[in-house]
Amino acid sequence: MSSTYQTGFGNEFATEAVPGALPVGRNSPQRVAHGLYAEQLSGTAFTAPRGSNRRSWLYRIRPAVTHGEFSAYAQPHLHGDFAHGAVSPNQLRWDPLPLPPTPTDFIDGLYTMGGNGSPDAHHGVGIHLYAANADMQGRYFYNADGELLIVPQLGRLRLLTELGVIEIEPQQIAVIPRGVRFRVELPDGQARGYVCENFGALLKLPDLGPIGSNGLANPRDFETPQAAFENIEGAFELIAKFGGQLWRADIDHSPLDVVAWHGNYAPYRYDLRRFNTIGSISHDHPDPSIFLVLHSPSDTAGTSNMDFAIFPPRWLVAQDTFRPPWFHRNIASEFMGLIHGAYDAKAEGFVPGGASLHNCMSGHGPDAATFDKASAADLSKPDVIKDTMAFMFETRGVIRPTAQAMEAAHRQRGYQQCWKGLKANFTG
Ligand SMILES: [Fe+2]
Repeated sequence: MSSTYQTGFGNEFATEAVPGALPVGRNSPQRVAHGLYAEQLSGTAFTAPRGSNRRSWLYRIRPAVTHGEFSAYAQPHLHGDFAHGAVSPNQLRWDPLPLPPTPTDFIDGLYTMGGNGSPDAHHGVGIHLYAANADMQGRYFYNADGELLIVPQLGRLRLLTELGVIEIEPQQIAVIPRGVRFRVELPDGQARGYVCENFGALLKLPDLGPIGSNGLANPRDFETPQAAFENIEGAFELIAKFGGQLWRADIDHSPLDVVAWHGNYAPYRYDLRRFNTIGSISHDHPDPSIFLVLHSPSDTAGTSNMDFAIFPPRWLVAQDTFRPPWFHRNIASEFMGLIHGAYDAKAEGFVPGGASLHNCMSGHGPDAATFDKASAADLSKPDVIKDTMAFMFETRGVIRPTAQAMEAAHRQRGYQQCWKGLKANFTG
């Protein structure tokens, strides 16, 4: 399977790996060319409004129903119950998840940090890390609980999906829709990163309001794979995530056997370095919503189930302004990670592969060293932040950390010390 792409966001794509495999003028002809089966994959309700309706028609060697019976599959670090257990109003931070000492593929390398909502209610998120050092060999995965937003931090990923092949490296992201089967290869032999499992409405580009018709993430920079397929038989395994837990079933062939497809429900990738970053050219800086790449809307207008925002390289030119992110408390809850370089609100401690969690109304902001430096900075010159790529999974619901994340050896117990040097400067 080779990787080639078609561009656009949510477009009605049409692609075939074998000439003539794609029916013309109908979705399910009596006989599909080349002896293929027709199968519809729906990602939204049948009656969703046209602008948000997502479905694809797949033309495949065998229909998706052909596999053995599912039974529970134990993966001790993957959790799906975010309704029970302790929450924490404390500011939390972690060092990078250590790479595994034994051969571990992408599925067994998933490690849940926290989440909210539930997959069966179709709202909320699961927030996971992955650390892996082995290809998925002879096994395939799909997630019925949510779409997967994958954010690599270390090593490339080769995502072989039913609808084609996506290759990503750190500073690129991929989204695998709910239900799409795939396996993961690691071209660099090891990989680490972040995964947001979105239980809610499908990720979409935000409206731009007064920004106008261009800016932030532009639709043409999203890339969806061309059709590519495997036609192999063997004693394979199909892993599913359904109802917050993993399941396994025998399968005697590769389910990546879609020869042609058309529709608008498909995986895609995006290069974060193409983001058109917008900010203040006078004073103050906008709310971090200006850095929004994709979001999952909720039923409340303007309030997302989940926002995916990034903090990319940019110029800081605002005058009479504290240029780093200000101190703040939000109704939203913020899980942050660092993909590359350094983050401008922290002098140290937040490193690539690390993570932080600031829950609803927990105060946070620049550490003492950053505050002192920015308060004395020479604002007559622009400042440029070159080597950085931080991101945030920001959610409407409170993020409930897992017990393993709270007890982890790589959690920084002394995180709050970074604000200890913020003295009262009140002069009366
Ligand atoms: Fe924040």
